[in-house]
Amino acid sequence: MKRTKVIDILKSTAFGSEVTVMGWVRTKRDSKTIAFIAVNDGSVIHNIQAVVDVANFDTELLKSISTGACVSITGTLVQSQGKGQSSEIQAKKIEVFGTADDTFPLQKKGHTLEFLREIAHLRPRTNTFGAVLRVRHHLAYGIHKFFNDKGFFYLNSPIITSSDAEGAGEMFRVTTLDMDKLPRKDGKLNFEEDFFGKETNLTVSGQLEGEAAATGIGQIYTFGPTFRAENSNTPRHLAEFWMIEPEAAFNDINDNMDLAEEMLKYLVKYALDNCADDLTFLNNMYDKDLLNRLNTVVHSTFKRITYTEGVDILEKSGHKFEFPVKWGIDLQREHESFLVEHFKTPVIVTGYPKEIKAFYMKQNEDGKTVRAMDVLFPYVGEIIGGSQREENYDKLKARILEMGIDEKTLWWYLELRKFGTCPHAGFGLGLERLVLFITGMTNVRDVIPFPRTPKNAEF
Ligand code: 4AD
Ligand code: MG
Repeated sequence: MKRTKVIDILKSTAFGSEVTVMGWVRTKRDSKTIAFIAVNDGSVIHNIQAVVDVANFDTELLKSISTGACVSITGTLVQSQGKGQSSEIQAKKIEVFGTADDTFPLQKKGHTLEFLREIAHLRPRTNTFGAVLRVRHHLAYGIHKFFNDKGFFYLNSPIITSSDAEGAGEMFRVTTLDMDKLPRKDGKLNFEEDFFGKETNLTVSGQLEGEAAATGIGQIYTFGPTFRAENSNTPRHLAEFWMIEPEAAFNDINDNMDLAEEMLKYLVKYALDNCADDLTFLNNMYDKDLLNRLNTVVHSTFKRITYTEGVDILEKSGHKFEFPVKWGIDLQREHESFLVEHFKTPVIVTGYPKEIKAFYMKQNEDGKTVRAMDVLFPYVGEIIGGSQREENYDKLKARILEMGIDEKTLWWYLELRKFGTCPHAGFGLGLERLVLFITGMTNVRDVIPFPRTPKNAEF
């Protein structure tokens, strides 16, 4: 079907020429002689207005057009008389693909985001979700561009795996066994009869496979869905989220921080450059400080501190935290926000106690801390988690045993250190946390098309 997208119609100055727009009716205003139909096709936040001379059209056809209907309108592109738009279409031919009666839930503007979550299948037809989905797309493209331009190779790490990359046990099992007749051997579930002949789960991270690739082709990044069965019902956690995990041979923790900072600034700038209309809409609609905040991050220098320094700042602040601060605790959301507020800039914290971090992180000489790094952002808290990796075979193995992890599932990961080991580092960026920050939305459920959270997989 031949049509011109609204984004291109609005750019066109070929007044007098014929165009066809196809899209969904946002509003229709009627008078006896003339009707105005605002059509949106999702290519851009703006609508195009069709001006309809009522006398030239069948009354029943015009009556069938209401908010939510899908139409094709062909007509002459003219310069607009009205305010707020530069061009409009003088309708000559109208076809209705699909009507929408008055049970269509998006009749009026101004629905709450909570309500829109209940109609996740229809929310792409709203301005807000159109904007969010377009920004999300541009960011995904920008991520590929950033890494490609730096010579990183895109690696497709597996979705089904038999290892627990974070050692945290928060996994969704993958099985073809009949749940009603689970085979047991010596009292234990016997996975020998399962599809893969062993226990498997959905991946919690592509990092381990990413390390295998980086220690062969140098620099890689993964970009795929990640699954965590953690029961955290917060505005920042999803059971299914998208993660970008670069891994680079011969990078130490400082190179890792440099890469993370450069990438985040690049992506925020990429969004500002490529999503100006959508970000302006979100800024005006939800958060008047959004554009200002994004620009500030692009021009900032991230503050780098150690965990020990961070804890010191929190302790000396005199602030009463819900979770009391003491060296050794995992930093909570309130602590992270405090540090970001304190420095008024994104903060990178390194050197966490080894007890609260994963088995694969490079151990420092002090025997207490590891070369971990978390990047903390305004509004979203932790946006990146990463580390330099333990490349010493004996130290890694000792840590695995110390943490009670089954080393048999990690034999291949240990071999990366047995043969030609090298210093390397990487991190994981949560795509939804990035989109959250850039769009100014406040709940990750509103930045992914169909959110998966505890007790929620309706669509
Ligand atoms: O800090 P995490 O757990 O780190 C890893 O998975 C490492 N394997 C990364 C690496 O070094 N290659 O997760 C990384 C990021 C977090 O900082 C956060 O942005 C996001 O992933 N994330 C989540 N986003 C949404 N919902 C969840 N449940 C998330 N868990 C982590
Ligand atoms: Mg983390």
